Amino acid sequence: AAAPDLAGRHVVVSAGGTREPLDPVRYLGNRSSGKQGYALARTAAARGARVTLVEANTAIPDPAGVDVVHVGTAVQLREAVLKAAADADAVVMAAAVADFRPAAYASGKIKKRDGVEAPEITLVRNPDILAEISAERPRPGQVVVGFAAETDEVLANGREKLRRKGCDLLVVNEVGERRTFGAEENEAVVLSSDGAETPVPHGPKEALADTVWDLVAARLPA
Ligand code: C5P
Repeated sequence: AAAPDLAGRHVVVSAGGTREPLDPVRYLGNRSSGKQGYALARTAAARGARVTLVEANTAIPDPAGVDVVHVGTAVQLREAVLKAAADADAVVMAAAVADFRPAAYASGKIKKRDGVEAPEITLVRNPDILAEISAERPRPGQVVVGFAAETDEVLANGREKLRRKGCDLLVVNEVGERRTFGAEENEAVVLSSDGAETPVPHGPKEALADTVWDLVAARLPA
């Protein structure tokens, strides 16, 4: 069994992908399965942590021994994560949060109209939850971890994103049609604000999760 090195700690993990509704039947969403976030929640619980898992639109049953909060949109995810983060030792933002949402929600289904080719959808920015928590650190000494799915210039974009978001660790992986999303395995590099770069070879999402918790545990105040 893994050493209970997270005993007495409260960690918050977000998982899945937000859905931003356009009308009662349609949404803007993404391909996140939530598997990496659930692996993080399970491994943290196995290492003794109290875990709050904020879940958005996954098809995964609630893990035993984990407090699960179910949300749909980015705004709801922000509320739930900020509430749980108030007394958290670490916050890991594994969820794919929509950067934009439709500016307006149509209370009735959007219809085809004669003489109108296609409706235009106006988007507005969603709050950046990772940047907000990194800047505010609701609890002193809190360790904040982000994820970045990149399709090109993976490391250069990751380093830039780590600085811009202000988090302590950023897990960077390359994504594409058949990579990462929905898969059981992952391959990544964990970038640290102190400049360290930890490559994690292709393997189960639990292995990446354990590496993240190793790096988090090393940064937690005694
Ligand atoms: O900017 P980008 O979406 O690539 O950043 C990804 C990281 O930022 C992930 O950790 C994700 O959970 C977080 N994020 C967030 N709020 C957003 C967008 C992304 O917390 N609105």
